[in-house]
Amino acid sequence: MIKGEKVYLRPILKSDLEYLNKWKNDEGVYRFLGGGFMPISIDQQEKWLDSMIDLTGNNKRFIICDRQDSPIGMIGLYDINWIHRTCEIGIYIGDKSSYGNGYGKEACILLEDFARDYLNIRKIKLNVVIDNEAAYNMWNVLGYKKVGELVRERFIKGEYHNLIIMEKFL
Ligand SMILES: CC(C)(COP(=O)(O)OP(=O)(O)OC[C@H]1O[C@@H](n2cnc3c(N)ncnc32)[C@H](O)[C@@H]1OP(=O)(O)O)[C@@H](O)C(=O)NCCC(=O)NCCS
Repeated sequence: MIKGEKVYLRPILKSDLEYLNKWKNDEGVYRFLGGGFMPISIDQQEKWLDSMIDLTGNNKRFIICDRQDSPIGMIGLYDINWIHRTCEIGIYIGDKSSYGNGYGKEACILLEDFARDYLNIRKIKLNVVIDNEAAYNMWNVLGYKKVGELVRERFIKGEYHNLIIMEKFL
């Protein structure tokens, strides 16, 4: 478990299935994420979950829990490149009542520290939709720098949106 003050990160369990499915089916949580909003059944989610219980891959996902041990979201490192020592970061807080308490920020700091100190990652990259104000602000607060912008890249709720590319050296 990766422990912080407000939250801790732990590996995904099979028993996480129900809320992972609830979050996945929430348009407000998923619309700005890479895969977009795509409701799935609990059976489909179970198949996905089985494929996630893989320790050898280049993606490392964790459940974010608050101090009451309640799962509130998911965070992960994706596309880890062990030669270049780079990866991407992704996060969502699925429990909307938890927004704005500093949980997202702390979860990112915990994962960055883990990436640097245990995985020997030196740079983290990410994509954020320009209209995703909360996330764009959070990445800026965390010290990510904008290095590019893809124009009309993502189709979300009937409109194309620009995508900002950011990076941070750890
Ligand atoms: C982005 C997200 C993870 C932020 O989580 P959170 O726990 O609410 O964020 P925090 O409370 O840790 O806030 C961190 C920073 O984000 C910014 N922020 C958070 N909520 C904001 C809001 N509603 N409006 C503007 N900025 C906001 C602030 O800059 C804040 O820093 P500050 O408190 O020092 O000013 C959350 O909104 C979320 O899960 N969104 C849906 C999924 C998503 O968009 N993921 C990111 C994809 S790139």
